[in-house]
Amino acid sequence: MQVRMRRLRRTPALRSLVRECALTKDHLVQPLFVVERAADAGPIASMPGIARFTLAGAVDEARALHALGIPAVLLFGIPERKDAAGSSNADPDGIVQRTIRAIKAAVPELAVMADLCNCEYTDHGHCGLLDEAGAVDNDATIAHLVRVALTYASCGVDVIAPSDMMDGRVEALRSALDAHGFTGVALLAYSAKYASAFYGPFREAAGSAPRSGDRRSYQMDAPNVREALREIALDVEEGADAVMIKPGLAYLDVLRAARDAFDVPLAVYNVSGEYAMLKAAIANGWLEERAIDEVLVAFVRGGADIVITYFARSWAERNS
Ligand code: PBG
Repeated sequence: MQVRMRRLRRTPALRSLVRECALTKDHLVQPLFVVERAADAGPIASMPGIARFTLAGAVDEARALHALGIPAVLLFGIPERKDAAGSSNADPDGIVQRTIRAIKAAVPELAVMADLCNCEYTDHGHCGLLDEAGAVDNDATIAHLVRVALTYASCGVDVIAPSDMMDGRVEALRSALDAHGFTGVALLAYSAKYASAFYGPFREAAGSAPRSGDRRSYQMDAPNVREALREIALDVEEGADAVMIKPGLAYLDVLRAARDAFDVPLAVYNVSGEYAMLKAAIANGWLEERAIDEVLVAFVRGGADIVITYFARSWAERNS
């Protein structure tokens, strides 16, 4: 007897029967960039097909995403004013706060997630507040993030996703949210967020590149996987409802290790540089469009429950 693996690959029907996993739009999250100043709206050169929206544009986009069956958006704000303390981030009428309210009013069924970080709001571009020596001050940053999170919660956000990588922020956020009665607001922690070159296009989109230095004193070092598992364990202990691996493609082994070690819902962020890379190769005719499907299913196969990707809308359009 010879084992013939090819028998069940012979027709589309047979292949479908033995397919081990599939991407569905039920697990997709579309990131949305929302600008405070209308002049900042428009296409993002390094991310073809992705734009910065005005508040009204973001609400229209949210409606369209919901109609396509995408369950969630992840909001990033691009404020009019930046300062050293990132104060516009905590403005109860800031751009993210207003967008949360508007989307929840227009499309209440759509889950609204808000990225929680300071880099879009500080003039120095770091994710935290700086001390006198110019280093990122962990605990001062957390105090500010807590203030911001409470404004998001009072606007009706469903999920807050801290992406700053400060130590202890999940616990601080959870206790502050609970103390203020926001027990239903979930926390999706960017637990294993690496200091990556793949965030380049995002920083162009959000105008959030650090003026000086880099993010290596708070984001993770690429070669480390055991450290990622410790970060996840800490965030789960501190009360994270779900945790994230970011970026996705170069870190699929981290995703798999996390899946094997934890039962919490796992998210992966297919970041801006991964989007740009595929779009550029496809635009040049160097790759076929189905390379996108191959990448997205790798996240599901790798163990992700939630796939945050700039391809969410276009994938749902192609597959509906
Ligand atoms: C904010 C934040 C970043 C991304 C998500 N949240 C940028 C960064 O850390 O520099 C990157 C997302 C992407 O590249 O798509 N800190």
